[in-house]
Amino acid sequence: MFHISTAPLNREQIQKWVEEYGYVPVEPPLGIDLFAEIERVKKEKNAILLAHYYQDADIQDIADFVGDSLELSQKAAQTQADIIVFAGVHFMAETAKILNPTKKVLIPDLNAGCSLSDSCPPERFAQFKAQYPEYKVVSYINTSAAVKAMSDIIVTSSNAAAIVQALPADWKLIFAPDKNLGAYVMHKSGREMVLWDGVCMVHTIFSYQKIRQLREKYPDALLIAHPECEPSVLEHADFIGSTSALLNYVVQSPAKQFIVATEPGILHQMRKRAPDKDLVAAPSEYSCSCNTCPHMKLNTLEKIYNALIYEAPEVTLDEQTIELARRPIERMLEMSRALGILKK
Ligand code: 13P
Ligand code: SF4
Repeated sequence: MFHISTAPLNREQIQKWVEEYGYVPVEPPLGIDLFAEIERVKKEKNAILLAHYYQDADIQDIADFVGDSLELSQKAAQTQADIIVFAGVHFMAETAKILNPTKKVLIPDLNAGCSLSDSCPPERFAQFKAQYPEYKVVSYINTSAAVKAMSDIIVTSSNAAAIVQALPADWKLIFAPDKNLGAYVMHKSGREMVLWDGVCMVHTIFSYQKIRQLREKYPDALLIAHPECEPSVLEHADFIGSTSALLNYVVQSPAKQFIVATEPGILHQMRKRAPDKDLVAAPSEYSCSCNTCPHMKLNTLEKIYNALIYEAPEVTLDEQTIELARRPIERMLEMSRALGILKK
């Protein structure tokens, strides 16, 4: 992976490597303590490292803030840092850039995409939207900046149902791109919506058949699930919520055992904050580890170190997209504060 050992000489070379690999493929100096060095460079450059719960444990441990998509976007909006390093996936780093157009936003590996975001290409979404000229667009944050720019409001898994419920009753709604979250939001809010046909490659693979077998083995365990899971899983869940909501539920619930139907990266914080709880990762349909997000797992400490040292790869967006995409994200943050989902 890090096959180039000579230090890059100039920006042009770094840019060429980023274009070719999606990250800076330079071997960090042999024997350095990556944790200490990342800390040092962060301080030196006034940089902040934001990480999602699906990151590897060591990345979560070195991050300045770990959270779900909503908390991460609020943190990105409020930071005083000059550089934001986003250990998550591309749409998250883009959101940080949209909220901070004058700051440098770095992503350790540009290849860290998202199957949901990829399922909704802007050109196809524009055609879809054109079929419903009177409709307002509610987009999940797991979309590209270009789709956000075509949206009226952005939501995340932690605020989608409450926001949709609070939208003017006479608004007709399109929801994109996750049809599972969309169906869950319709059920919770009682609002009809036209759904885009997308799913998350990770959450769609959990199988209730396998979970049922686990429940027989652990009859006292509660099933907790992310709303991107299939309806067959959600129907049987004892609790449904965003990654942060699942974490808080495990910490606060008097129950001792949980089957967790989301990406297993979250188990790290659950174990840290609730060491006395017994956690079982929900199995996928097949005998594979496809319940881990391959995009999230592209980030490594080495790539984070390189991103800080070489200030690349950088997330860039044109001014018009930033302008158009910022409004629906800010609307989401405002509504989340007004609804008490986010602190002021
Ligand atoms: P959360 O906002 O719940 O952290 O979810 C992000 C995500 O990508 C889930 O797959
Ligand atoms: Fe996207 Fe699914 Fe990975 Fe979340 S888990 S980032 S929705 S592919």
